[in-house]
Amino acid sequence: AQRKQIDEVLALFRLTREQLMDVQSKMRTEFEYGLKKDTHLMATVKMLPTYVCGMPDGTEKGKFLALDLGGTNFRVLLVKIRSGRRSVRMYNKIFAIPLEIMQGTGEELFDHIVQCIADFLDYMGLKGAQLPLGFTFSFPCRQTSIDKGTLIEWTKGFKATDCEGEDMVDMLREAIKRRNEFDLDIVAVVNDTVGTMMTCGYEDPNCEIGLIAGTGSNMCYMEEMRNIELVEGDEGKMCINTEWGAFGDNGCIDDIRTRYDKKVDEGSLNPGKQRYEKMTSGMYLGEIVRQILIDLTKQGLLFRGQISERLRTRGIFETKFLSQIESDRLALLQVRRILQQLGLDSTCEDSIVVKEVCGAVSRRAAQLYGAGLAAVVEKRRQDQGLEYLKITVGVDGTLYKLHPHFSRILQETVKELAPRCDVTLMLSEDGSGKGAALITAVAKRLQQAQK
Ligand code: BG6
Ligand code: GLC
Repeated sequence: AQRKQIDEVLALFRLTREQLMDVQSKMRTEFEYGLKKDTHLMATVKMLPTYVCGMPDGTEKGKFLALDLGGTNFRVLLVKIRSGRRSVRMYNKIFAIPLEIMQGTGEELFDHIVQCIADFLDYMGLKGAQLPLGFTFSFPCRQTSIDKGTLIEWTKGFKATDCEGEDMVDMLREAIKRRNEFDLDIVAVVNDTVGTMMTCGYEDPNCEIGLIAGTGSNMCYMEEMRNIELVEGDEGKMCINTEWGAFGDNGCIDDIRTRYDKKVDEGSLNPGKQRYEKMTSGMYLGEIVRQILIDLTKQGLLFRGQISERLRTRGIFETKFLSQIESDRLALLQVRRILQQLGLDSTCEDSIVVKEVCGAVSRRAAQLYGAGLAAVVEKRRQDQGLEYLKITVGVDGTLYKLHPHFSRILQETVKELAPRCDVTLMLSEDGSGKGAALITAVAKRLQQAQK
């Protein structure tokens, strides 16, 4: 009887091929809404123009600063690009952003960022240097040029006040002015998906999609200008930051959301928002698992029916734990040890169930990513009138990098849902900071050409 109850819960996370095709087709519909003039304001998938119109061509060069804010780590980087050989040297330092700053005031957040830049310049012996800067800012921004980005709303774990509706480049400039110690030329603000696409595009010109499976979930891709109704001009392509994490915010995938997804949403910083992200990304998968475990324990199916204080604690299951628990090389005893580390006293049977729960949740996430990715590659194939499309996707993020099965399931799902597309997933080794520097280099070159 116990097994049956557990299986019933796990079954909620199993998606049929039809359901995945349905997700794919709904995602496609949302893409079209977001691109069209009369529907974009209501669109849940925002399809934001980025003003990034081409790939680096290898002639870029120079020294650039880059900031990388919004993922697991906040980094400041110095990126040296040499032309010709496509070689890049990078130096970076990771800085912490304390919770009270992530959720304090905007001024405090930007003062902290500028403090970190100052420390980094000091550390590199670059005090007083005036360098062009590319800002990777991994949140939804409305852009009217490459160096302007108005924050639409915070996502993930950030909630600093007085930022939404403001230009993040202005806020950074003002914080630099307040400090009055150095001058930086902020040339570009880019989403992490875009930075990732560029990082990979530097090596593989076929890379026209950027995918993040990390703290958050998002995708960008190169779109034909003629399809982007919000931007003048019909020639060439522009990168679109889809912000697909918000897919489903209009209720269109409520049929596959479980009661656990709803619980996770209710307990989050932004209830009702980013529903697809909350079913797929690293910040939330562990929370889904925790909700299921609580429920199973309440039903007396786990942990001897005892809900520990730990299990009640938000955020205990980080992506790295899920990844460890699901590793095939791991004996059950080791799973038990990980649970113990998390303060969860489990029997051998408990460990089996926990592993199954993790597997069901991460499998669904990878399949949902696959359905989203299938939607975009099929769109690109059809838009270009191709029988067959060969395309590379630059991918980054802790979930993708650490999880033992995620990338395989993602790959299999895309293959199944978009059989006429040959999709190569390319891991970004260097983060999105490198891409941001490359974009800055291109923008700088264009700026100078205009003068
Ligand atoms: C990194 C980027 O490599 O990938 C970050 O440089 C980005 O800016 C990240 O947000 C996504 O991964 P995570 O797991 O750190 O959110
Ligand atoms: C969130 C952000 C998005 C970012 C993604 C991955 O979805 O809104 O801008 O790309 O997380 O970091």
